[in-house]
Amino acid sequence: MSKELRIGMIGYGFMGRAHSNAYKRLNDFFPVEHRPVLKAVCGRNTEKAAAFARNWGYERVETDWRAIVSAKDIDVVDIGTPNDTHFDIAIEAARHGKMVLCEKPLAMNVQQAEEMTRAVEMAGVPNMVWFNYRRVPAIALAKQIIDEGRIGKSFHYRATYLQDWTISPDVPQGGAALWRLDVNAAGSGVTGDLLAHSIDTAMWLNGPIKRVTAMTKTFVTERVHAVTGEVAPVGIDDACMFLAEFANGSMGTFESTRYARGRKNFNTFEMNGEAGSVYFDLEEPEYLQFFEYQQQQSGKKVESHLTGWRKIHTTNSEHPYMNRYWVPGTCIGYEHTFLNALADFVMGIESGSPTQPDFRSALQTQKVCDAVIEAAKKGAWVETGAE
Ligand SMILES: NC(=O)c1ccc[n+]([C@@H]2O[C@H](COP(=O)([O-])OP(=O)(O)OC[C@H]3O[C@@H](n4cnc5c(N)ncnc54)[C@H](O)[C@@H]3O)[C@@H](O)[C@H]2O)c1
Repeated sequence: MSKELRIGMIGYGFMGRAHSNAYKRLNDFFPVEHRPVLKAVCGRNTEKAAAFARNWGYERVETDWRAIVSAKDIDVVDIGTPNDTHFDIAIEAARHGKMVLCEKPLAMNVQQAEEMTRAVEMAGVPNMVWFNYRRVPAIALAKQIIDEGRIGKSFHYRATYLQDWTISPDVPQGGAALWRLDVNAAGSGVTGDLLAHSIDTAMWLNGPIKRVTAMTKTFVTERVHAVTGEVAPVGIDDACMFLAEFANGSMGTFESTRYARGRKNFNTFEMNGEAGSVYFDLEEPEYLQFFEYQQQQSGKKVESHLTGWRKIHTTNSEHPYMNRYWVPGTCIGYEHTFLNALADFVMGIESGSPTQPDFRSALQTQKVCDAVIEAAKKGAWVETGAE
């Protein structure tokens, strides 16, 4: 007998679609007992929300998120709205005993993230933050390789997350889809939007970041606000570079911008250790590159003219998540990262061993994001306090 998992989705934009797709496909691909039921979607525009509900199969529409968090027929509140709304919705959802799934970045700042973490932990409700890149099979394989000790002592971690969609000064700030340029809705620019992903991945693979120093830049300092129609100062960081020291003693560099002409969602990382290296590039998401330093193999000296990087096509059933999909050599896509994350969350509920990243884990990422912004302002090294 399947158990219902009744979903209240808040927001019907990019993430509303990505999450709804995951709910609809879960039982097709993963052998879990729970069956998502798309109970309600919330958006402030009734017509648009109703069209979304018809398209994706939600039973009803709400225009105030409070109706979702307090509804008796909702088990999971899923927050897919701009960053400035996460705090109120998550706190109220936890207060009503709902499971809470929240988009990244968890909050506008560490204070909010701490309170949200306390709220879900005190309520004892399952919770997760959608840092979906952990669920790319190639990135999950990197984690496996690192945990198997194949990289050895870590020296370097290098991440980039580059886009190019805000170069024109004519792009307004605020309102639908462009809330990312409005500091009051987003909290920060590329630091919270893009580097939060890079930081979550980095700390998952290489452990906590202890301290950072940073430089941020706002290339276009005034933009029309889409809601007021007035020209207003831009408060977000358009680009951010930071240096990091990890608790394990390794060094990190992180670079993010929305001004890298030609780069659309260029999310890469490389990690170098004593025994090997891994490299990932989201533009070739099914590949993980791995270099293994070996002097001997099967008792024979390794011939150095034959050494080199391996480009692993992560489509074998032995690779993370891939036994749920197709035959070796066939790929999965961006949308599956959300499906894999949801499956992990549901399996966590069923096994009683909660999945990661939960709110507490996302709080650590928030600490690094805040420290980066503070370091850029001060022009100094800042301790993150991340664990
Ligand atoms: N995990 C990822 O890779 C990823 C990717 C994109 C966005 N995000 C995150 O997801 C969240 C949403 O981003 P998006 O790209 O889907 O944005 P979006 O602009 O496409 O959609 C936002 C939705 O929220 C709704 N909304 C705004 N304020 C609301 C309110 N007060 N009450 C109810 N609904 C409200 C809007 O109507 C819209 O439907 C953000 O926190 C963002 O950082 C994560």
